[in-house]
Amino acid sequence: MKVLICTDTNAAIDRAAHLMTDRLRDKPKSVFGLATGSTMEPLYDRWIAIAGDEGLSFARARTFNLDEYVGLPASHPQSYHHYMERFFFDRIDIDRANAHLPNGAAPDPAAEAKAYEGRIANAGGIDLQLIGIGRNGHIGFNEPTSSLTSRTRLKTLTRSTLEANAAHFPPGETPPRYVITMGIGTILESRACLLLATGAGKAEAVERMIEGAVSAACPASALQFHPSATIVLDPEAASCLK
Ligand code: F6R
Repeated sequence: MKVLICTDTNAAIDRAAHLMTDRLRDKPKSVFGLATGSTMEPLYDRWIAIAGDEGLSFARARTFNLDEYVGLPASHPQSYHHYMERFFFDRIDIDRANAHLPNGAAPDPAAEAKAYEGRIANAGGIDLQLIGIGRNGHIGFNEPTSSLTSRTRLKTLTRSTLEANAAHFPPGETPPRYVITMGIGTILESRACLLLATGAGKAEAVERMIEGAVSAACPASALQFHPSATIVLDPEAASCLK
């Protein structure tokens, strides 16, 4: 694990965005694994800006998102399809046929999860997987107690994640309980991964990920086994490290 503690939040976002851009420049046909969430919004802004400044194109890139809610159509404002369109796909020249998310509206979510895994394999696997971390140590929506060898599958969200996600839904609307998520085994197969964490709310999870025992109690700790994992932190997210 390579841990980069940056001088402030903007510097962390900038560092992560440069690492994503480096990969795009080196291999325009890269397969990127992507994430959603509040942490990633400024990261996409910055990545788009840096790539634009350098005149880089996403036209040959392929992407696979980590996860999607089950039961939300792609057009739903809180779906991850919608998030990705708003913060990334609508603003770059990617060929939309190459931008993949699990289909949360599929009639058979378990079959969709299996097919998604097949689509990643057919693309040759993921070159660089972008990851956020939940306060409970989840990566993707692999909640605590997820098997460290799990594959893309249907998963039930924990109460704490449901509460965190509810903030993104209009009052009175309940976030879905079920998701399709890449598994921890799937994530560990990426050729490189980049986890970005910012803010004091992530400090304890970051400490357990980096300095704790590898355990399903903290799914992100599995990244200690990844051969090429880079963790980019701001000082607040790094504040519990020894
Ligand atoms: C989203 C995802 C989640 C988030 C995590 C952090 O695709 O996989 O694991 O990365 O919940 O979310 P934020 O950044 O909103 O704190």
